[in-house]
Amino acid sequence: MQNKYLGITPPMGWNSWNTFTHAINEELIKETADAMVASGLKDAGYEYVVIDDCWSLRQRGQNGELVADPEKFPHGMKAVADYVHSKGLKFGMYSCDGTHTCAGYPGSFEHEFQDAATFASWGVDYLKYDNCYKPAHMDGEMLYKRMSLALRNCGRDILFSACNWGHDDVWSWIQGSGAQLFRSTGDIVDSWESIKNLALSQMNKTAYSGPFCHNDIDMLVVGMYGGSNDEYIGGKLGGCTDVEYRTHFSLWAIMNSPLMIGCDIRKMNQVTKETLTNPDVIAINQDIECRGPYVVPGHDPAAIFSLVKPMSDGSLAIGMFNLGDKKAQVNLPFWDMGIPAAAGVGLEITDCWSHENEGRFTERYAASIEPHDCKLLRAKVSLG
Ligand code: GAL
Repeated sequence: MQNKYLGITPPMGWNSWNTFTHAINEELIKETADAMVASGLKDAGYEYVVIDDCWSLRQRGQNGELVADPEKFPHGMKAVADYVHSKGLKFGMYSCDGTHTCAGYPGSFEHEFQDAATFASWGVDYLKYDNCYKPAHMDGEMLYKRMSLALRNCGRDILFSACNWGHDDVWSWIQGSGAQLFRSTGDIVDSWESIKNLALSQMNKTAYSGPFCHNDIDMLVVGMYGGSNDEYIGGKLGGCTDVEYRTHFSLWAIMNSPLMIGCDIRKMNQVTKETLTNPDVIAINQDIECRGPYVVPGHDPAAIFSLVKPMSDGSLAIGMFNLGDKKAQVNLPFWDMGIPAAAGVGLEITDCWSHENEGRFTERYAASIEPHDCKLLRAKVSLG
């Protein structure tokens, strides 16, 4: 590896799947790269433009190589990568550990080293690696290790995004595979239930991710508003409210998930842009130590809880969540965070969404939070 810091913090970027599924092409990718720069997403830290499933021909070429679909990508993948790179961005692609990808295109099974070389020759910087059509007798753990090894020896720095949906106790072996990401969940869809269920499913897994190996709760649906071309992902669901998208972004940020945008960034509205580019929220996600947050349960732990993440500057990031359907009082006793009020220790609290400094608190912080809403705070520990 040339870049010894590759993947040290969760990657940020955009992925084609949530909105476009099979309907991808060169124009879309180029326009998305343009929009990433023009909208300010790049300046906010987003850098990867990733093509998901459905980019290749249904058959490999004469020498067993993967071939980009010439109708979708008439100038080949290298040209797409070059364009993305010319914008100062990085380029990502997709394959699968089985014989076929989930949508039925050729997978990399038994072609791992050849495909890694192909991706390197095209200028790929990021590979998402799915888990469909894996021969039943094959061990998934070994297949992820195999592709990781291939990528680490292909002559180019390629970030490895393992996507086995949390199967095979992935958190127990993924560190040793060399992957920088591990998908821990099934697919997100553009609904509040989906956001809520995915986040809750990882509450007891936050300790398993850290620098260079991040728990990937799946891509963001922020700003989709039901705008997928796939009925299941969102076409029929109608999407979420802006408050729900903001809570989704807050959860993913404090849980150290990659921030991979799934909406059509060429057509983002102002609220979506403001949500996705909030520097205070992104700073929580990108903290160099990547410490997983711990949970302080509220009175209904399945819906009301706080997440506390120790930051490298000594401060705390605190997310207070009401995933329930009724307004709730969320109470955060400082005893539960190791803060001894009797010794005069307190927290100076700034709200990361309103950017207001709320002053200094001792013993506890409490907030009344609307359904599906949250508070995301940065708290400086002060001795009074
Ligand atoms: C799923 C994966 C999705 C998407 C899709 C493509 O297995 O979890 O994120 O990549 O395959 O077919």
